[in-house]
Amino acid sequence: MDVDAAIRTRRTHKAYADEPVSREVVEELLELARFAPNHHLTEPWRFRVLGPASLERLVAAGEPREAAKLRRAPTLVVASALQPGDAHQNREDLLATACAVYIVLLAAHARGLASYWRTPAVLETPAGGSAVGVPDDETVVALIHLGQPVTSPPAKERRPTGEYVTYLD
Ligand SMILES: Cc1cc2nc3c(=O)[nH]c(=O)nc-3n(C[C@H](O)[C@H](O)[C@H](O)COP(=O)(O)O)c2cc1C
Repeated sequence: MDVDAAIRTRRTHKAYADEPVSREVVEELLELARFAPNHHLTEPWRFRVLGPASLERLVAAGEPREAAKLRRAPTLVVASALQPGDAHQNREDLLATACAVYIVLLAAHARGLASYWRTPAVLETPAGGSAVGVPDDETVVALIHLGQPVTSPPAKERRPTGEYVTYLD
């Protein structure tokens, strides 16, 4: 799959088969993530692949009504950005980490996997962060869902370029 096709056909998946993504493939995706652009080569992203115990801690930290949604995908990765610097550096590192997350989604899609960038409320709470080992100097960017697809979500309409691109003189 070429890059254009991967960008055009990736979808947010909210349903997955039970089978987890192998550790080998997870490693491939997270190895690709490090090629995200990042200023001063801070490589600010951190990824924590959840196991059964950390998932249960996360579920316990959240509201009961959140539990089912946290269990939707068989493989979950918490992506966070190191935020130790000044406001400008922190912002750049957050943006770089978002690029790294997108690499993971695209690379997963190129391998036929389903994915989903989710930002559950529990991961914005101190209890949620500590359940998955995110320290105070990191900001959670995504709970990346990965797994085998069971549906083919349709493309969501996007605005044409004329509505969001301006060519200046
Ligand atoms: C920063 C960020 C946070 C997101 N958080 C959520 C979320 O918490 N819940 C959700 O349903 N979708 C979330 N999404 C996914 C978007 O809803 C999804 O990308 C959008 O609907 C477009 O669909 P597509 O990815 O299939 O093109 C998030 C996406 C981004 C970039």
